[in-house]
Amino acid sequence: MTDQYAVIGRPISHTKSPLIHGLFAEATGQQLSYGAIEGSEGDFAGDVQRFRDSGGRGMNITAPFKLQAYSLATQPSERARLAKAANALRFDGDQVLAENFDGIGLLRDIQHNLGNPLAGKRVLLLGAGGAVRGALLPFLGAEPAQLVMANRDLRKAQVLAWELKHPRLEVLGYEALEGEHFDIVVNATSASLTGERPPVPASVFNGAALAYELAYGKGLTPFLRLAQEQRVAQLADGVGMLVEQAAEAFEWWRGVRPDTRPVIDRLTIPLV
Ligand code: ATR
Repeated sequence: MTDQYAVIGRPISHTKSPLIHGLFAEATGQQLSYGAIEGSEGDFAGDVQRFRDSGGRGMNITAPFKLQAYSLATQPSERARLAKAANALRFDGDQVLAENFDGIGLLRDIQHNLGNPLAGKRVLLLGAGGAVRGALLPFLGAEPAQLVMANRDLRKAQVLAWELKHPRLEVLGYEALEGEHFDIVVNATSASLTGERPPVPASVFNGAALAYELAYGKGLTPFLRLAQEQRVAQLADGVGMLVEQAAEAFEWWRGVRPDTRPVIDRLTIPLV
């Protein structure tokens, strides 16, 4: 039987994962099928079990199930442990391996695709939710001069920083960002999903090389618009991160690294 994979989320109708993995499979000559499952409200573990019972080999997990997916793992990776969330599962016999590729997908997009190495740079990460939890370890591993995390709920960010205790990681409230500037500014809040902008002062963009919006396909969000007004050299949304995290999962499952460029090009919606 063809190896089966799927993405699970609720709602799931908007997902691009079957398209992305289908293109990867075609390009690498891998025999697999990749579907989409609308997770049920109260029985995520049952949904996963049914997929495994029907021959499922691995899953991608999207909102709102990433925390529950992590709790099903018998072998979580270090990244998944810090994030307390999994975006990919692999089923090996009785074992459930859990990974979180969101952060390394984001890092690879920023460094490799967009050409902005973090090493020696001042980086601002907005938010302290699941997306930031996934990004912290990979970002710190890229050795920025300083990584500042800003969040409305300061305590949430402080707890995260305390868990990591990294000398280059600092937490600031939004008002304390006034007058500060950064090389790279990443919006990892969920503000853009409701058309809002995190209360970040315009000064953070002074001289910035890149403003990155994790949301994908929303055009120029209020965050990116502010960055554009401040003449940030490069603006990007999360399409590259989406494809890169998928490529990490594909390689983890299949042992083959797909070329991401053609898939990113195909999915890119111009920022207007
Ligand atoms: P995700 O998994 O997408 O990170 P989450 O865990 O619910 O989602 O976290 C959402 C993040 O976006 C939080 O950091 C939240 O800030 P608070 O912790 O202060 O609530 C942030 N966020 C959401 N809407 C925001 C807004 N309008 N302005 C600033 N931050 C916002």
